[in-house]
Amino acid sequence: METNILVTILQQAVQAPSGDNSQPWHFVWSEKDQVLSLYNLPNNDNPIFNYQQRGSHIAHGALLENIRLLAGTAGYRAEIELRADSARDNLVAKTRFIETSKVENTFLAPYIDQRNTNRKPYQTRPLTAIEREALLKVNTEGITLTLEQTEGSKEQLARAVSTAERVMLQYKPLHDYFFDMIRWTGAQEQKKGNGLYVKTMELLPPQLLIFKLYSFWPIARILNRLNLPAFIAKENAKIYKQASAFILFTNAEHTPESYIKLGSVLQRVWLTATSLGLSMQPVAGVVYLYQRLVNEPNTSLNSNQSQLVIGAYENIANVFKTPVDSLRMLVRIGQGEPPSARARKQIPAIEII
Ligand SMILES: Cc1cc2nc3c(=O)[nH]c(=O)nc-3n(C[C@H](O)[C@H](O)[C@H](O)COP(=O)(O)O)c2cc1C
Repeated sequence: METNILVTILQQAVQAPSGDNSQPWHFVWSEKDQVLSLYNLPNNDNPIFNYQQRGSHIAHGALLENIRLLAGTAGYRAEIELRADSARDNLVAKTRFIETSKVENTFLAPYIDQRNTNRKPYQTRPLTAIEREALLKVNTEGITLTLEQTEGSKEQLARAVSTAERVMLQYKPLHDYFFDMIRWTGAQEQKKGNGLYVKTMELLPPQLLIFKLYSFWPIARILNRLNLPAFIAKENAKIYKQASAFILFTNAEHTPESYIKLGSVLQRVWLTATSLGLSMQPVAGVVYLYQRLVNEPNTSLNSNQSQLVIGAYENIANVFKTPVDSLRMLVRIGQGEPPSARARKQIPAIEII
């Protein structure tokens, strides 16, 4: 493959989602061997949510799915080899491109640029049969998708997922990492190249004011004493429940490859949703906080915060009637007005050797 084709593919592929828009990737292209190496940038994403790089691996999976789709439209089959021990040297995957006259399954490629995280309230109408069928028909490679769309389930799930914000505002390390990733202006977002642009959070003016005050820990401590996190979580839950459905992704494994695969499946579902004119938002904070808690119970949260996270996580598992250790990703989906702003992506760093 000519290097300029690869560069064009990667420039579009990096439109993939990533936790807090951390874009934890770096590329090395060997012109001689015609191999693209994808490296993880392990310090990019929030280390508390990104337990064992699982969130970053999901982002890599989404990115690789984009690469596969875009290579297909350029007339190449991407042979992607996932590395089992990426924790050792951060090498996540190697991809070879095979020229082919056979058209690959690329119908989702045009939606890569349009996909985004939409944090607005959505219409609460149920998904149509056509929408449900299209979403559940996605090739999930053994990962199970379960859809919940009754009003009662949505209410419970909305409340459970909003626990992530409640804990984030109270627990200083999480608070500090989160606000460190907030970009308050478009200029700041452009300069830093990654992070969460505040406009994409869809806050109303009074909410934005409180959010700004919350960024200062001494003020946050005072607001926390007034029990504001519980109130904020309740308000957020009202938005979360304005959706057609929640979709849970479950799986049995916890290997890096299984999270990368999950990311590819998430991206396929998200692009399918985009093709149907539907919006999506991952609401996964509780899932990753729980994973850290059960594996490292002595670190992090105090007992009250731990109980909140465990209770919320178990509620999610109960609503979906799924084994407790199987939760991997949760999203809300529905028809919404377009987001007020889109997350900006950095031009990818490609080392050519
Ligand atoms: C593993 C993972 C977890 C995420 N969790 C959340 C979440 O809990 N809440 C949320 O609003 N967005 C979440 N997101 C969405 C990212 O914040 C979003 O992808 C990023 O800011 C880039 O924006 P974009 O998706 O519009 O390109 C998550 C994304 C990934 C890949």
